[in-house]
Amino acid sequence: MDIWHMRGGRRLEGERRIQGSKNATLPILAAAALTPLRCELYRVPRLRDVEAALRILRCLGCRAERDGDAVAIDSTALSGCCVPQELMREMRSSVLFLGALIGRCGEAKLSLPGGCKLGKRPIDLHLDALRRLGARIEEDGAELRCLPSRLRGCEIVLPFPSVGATENALLAACAAKGESVLHGAAREPEITALAEFLIAAGARIRGLGTDTLYIDGFCPRRTVRRRMAPDRIAAATLACAAAGVGGDVRLRGFESGEISSLLHFLNEAGCDIIPQSDGLRLRAGGRLRAVGRVRTAPYPGFATDAQPLLMAALLRSEGRTLICETIFEDRFRQAPELRRLGADIRLGGRLAEIRGVEALHGAALCASDLRGGAAMVCAGLAAEGETVVFDEGHIRRGYEDLDGDLRALGAEIWLT
Ligand code: EPU
Repeated sequence: MDIWHMRGGRRLEGERRIQGSKNATLPILAAAALTPLRCELYRVPRLRDVEAALRILRCLGCRAERDGDAVAIDSTALSGCCVPQELMREMRSSVLFLGALIGRCGEAKLSLPGGCKLGKRPIDLHLDALRRLGARIEEDGAELRCLPSRLRGCEIVLPFPSVGATENALLAACAAKGESVLHGAAREPEITALAEFLIAAGARIRGLGTDTLYIDGFCPRRTVRRRMAPDRIAAATLACAAAGVGGDVRLRGFESGEISSLLHFLNEAGCDIIPQSDGLRLRAGGRLRAVGRVRTAPYPGFATDAQPLLMAALLRSEGRTLICETIFEDRFRQAPELRRLGADIRLGGRLAEIRGVEALHGAALCASDLRGGAAMVCAGLAAEGETVVFDEGHIRRGYEDLDGDLRALGAEIWLT
């Protein structure tokens, strides 16, 4: 159990470099198993989920070694196509090994993945796409078994741009014979990062950044070197922390355009946002203003991952903000905890209404998911007195050193 302590009220000032992206790294680690490959990956964030993916690779017979922020993977010796349940349960992205293993071995045996509890999170779209490509997948309770299958290129239409289903389909389609067209694909930057990795590994993929991806075979290469993309949600977290308590921060080493929908709201709330060549500067002082209506949406819309963070930033705003969460059914779990700080948040189905209060006060909170936990930390920094966040390790699943980053910006925060 991590216990986060913070004494709120200190402005955040200074500069931080943004960590490598969790959600870009995880699919790339699965992709490393798709074809016999040696890869060197840099700026690989040290996170619980990333270490879990490396354990899966090792369990499949691959070599996976970390040296600082570099990870070397050699998947030439992959010897199995089964991932045990205890490894599958560690995170959501373990399901991407399904597409990678079917692509590599033609068969696979896995169980249902774990991950943050944000709603039902079915994998029907993943399975439909893989089956269209020719995978013979049987579901037996929590077990997923893909019988020996021959993949062939086809047209896949995703009825919703699921990030994970797009990634799984992309992985398997690379190994299929003939061209595949993936319509309705997710457009998140993490999809583009995966496609770029696959292209470096020999795949022919067109349509990057659009909702139609054309995948036309694979001409495998033996070595790939890549630097992981910066984590736009980690940048969003520090931006929301500074917006909520006030400050002047420079966030470096990421593309601010990737969080432009969040920046739009922070700007409307009264923050000065100054885009810079490799990041941004954010200045905030006094009480923020409410921003009216916010609606989460697939990229390039307002990211569901940033929703709890923006909520935390707006707790002391003047006025009323209505947030509509359209992506996950149960992503307001942070709200009842934030109320303990004195926040006025009313929930009704997919809507959360935030009426800004003048001041928050310290309290003891309990994190139950990654971004919700980070939102509690951001809110605690803006509360008077001491706040404690009890966390079973959710926050470390996505942040390398959130307390260190915040401390370096002047926050009074420590872990026990
Ligand atoms: N969905 C289905 N069927 C499917 C797949 C998804 O109904 O087969 C639904 C989900 O239940 C959800 C919605 O579609 O309601 C969106 O799910 P999506 O598949 O797009 O999300 P994901 O791949 O499970 C990734 C990120 C999440 C992020 C979402 C949305 C990773 C490892 N996870 O999840 O990140 O919130 O996309 O952008 O990339 C996080 O980092 O904290 C996090 C939860």
